[in-house]
Amino acid sequence: MYKKAIIFGITGQDGSYLAELLLDKGYKVVGVTRRSSTPNTQNINHILQKINLIEGDITDPFSVNTIINLEKPTEIYNLAAQSHVGTSFNQPNYTWDVTAGGVLNILEALRFSPRKDHIKFYQASSSEMFGKNFSTKTKKGFISDQYSKYQDENTPFVPQSPYAIAKLAAHHLVRNYRDSYGIHGSCGILFNHESERRGEKFVTRKITKWIGRFSNWLTYMCVGSDMTTASDGDTIHVSGHQEFFPKLRLGNLDAKRDWGHAEDYVNAMWLMLQQDKPDDYVVAMGETHSVREFLDAAFDAVGISDWEDFVVVDPEFYRPSEVDYLLGDPQKAMLNLGWAPKVSFKELAQRMVYNDVQKARLRRPSLQTVSQCCSQKR
Ligand code: NAP
Ligand code: GDD
Repeated sequence: MYKKAIIFGITGQDGSYLAELLLDKGYKVVGVTRRSSTPNTQNINHILQKINLIEGDITDPFSVNTIINLEKPTEIYNLAAQSHVGTSFNQPNYTWDVTAGGVLNILEALRFSPRKDHIKFYQASSSEMFGKNFSTKTKKGFISDQYSKYQDENTPFVPQSPYAIAKLAAHHLVRNYRDSYGIHGSCGILFNHESERRGEKFVTRKITKWIGRFSNWLTYMCVGSDMTTASDGDTIHVSGHQEFFPKLRLGNLDAKRDWGHAEDYVNAMWLMLQQDKPDDYVVAMGETHSVREFLDAAFDAVGISDWEDFVVVDPEFYRPSEVDYLLGDPQKAMLNLGWAPKVSFKELAQRMVYNDVQKARLRRPSLQTVSQCCSQKR
């Protein structure tokens, strides 16, 4: 059967994993990329020979329309967005144009497409749309007894940022075009998902990238645990050495997120478009962890249990309005789609740290490991 997918946002974290998944399933994959003054294909370089890249931008209706009409896809995945919540407070108009306006452009192109009835559409909605709201557990369900609050498809949305408001507008647009014009549009209300390809400004990757560089620096300095921190409180240095390493600067460590691995989550996107009827689904792990707990798990991956002294809480990274608690109930996706995640929270943190340690090592050739080096010293 002819299967051809267009992915808007193929250069991002999810786009790259989704492209791999679809290629494995025998799809022809068309990826839409923005013109960029420097290369931005690092997530897809390994599959460039297998996919067809087209230059385009979802804020440009002409570009979107032309691509959809020329390519004749059977499925369209819209993963393109200005996806950073913190950035959306500083660039609200731009975020609106891409994250909400871009979706309208795709929906309008679909509405007037002669192939409208042969195209299924996926929209990347977000758990950020719940904002500060949650449902209170009253009966035994999928979520563990340790949690009394959760979000699912019935929890009302109370978005807290320009990003979340733009995502909610897009979410409602998809519902409206589904009801009004019969478009096969499904929204995945995805909770946070991370990976080795996660953008470096998101908190998990910011942490694991720092740990990778720090552990590389320790190796270079040939030290194990005999570290002391500098008196200005912003740097780490080793007794008897001039060199120092800047501490990791973060914002709110108490925010809680339901974190999974992106590889699992793109599978849910695909499953949604294999259904006869379009619908909206929460995709989540069903457990929540604070940023602090992610720090525990990530530092643990390199054998450091006491990280408090390496981290500075910096008001610069606080948001004007925070989403304190996200915990998704994925029961509908699990029952109706047969979706099940494979990568646990701990494995996620470990995989990200190992990847960043490896990457940092490549920056300095022929280094010994910390343990090799320290055992030689002793
Ligand atoms: P990401 O890494 O930031 O990727 C975003 C993608 O959108 C990139 O390929 C980017 O291209 C592209 N893009 C941005 N503006 C565009 C425009 N005007 N025209 C065309 N493409 C544009 O995001 P992600 O983590 O993969 O997330 C994928 C989608 O899921 C996003 O819509 C995000 O908001 C949503 N989401 C993510 C999560 C999560 O936890 N990861 C959870 C819920 C929802 P460049 O490479 O050129 O920048
Ligand atoms: N980025 C960042 N940087 N976040 C920090 C920092 C920091 O230095 N310090 C603490 N945090 C806190 C944020 O305040 C937030 O509560 C939490 O860490 C997670 O922040 P991000 O990793 O930036 O993700 P997000 O939850 O705001 O948004 C992500 O998930 C959404 C789904 O819930 C993005 O992927 C969105 O695109 C996605 O829709």
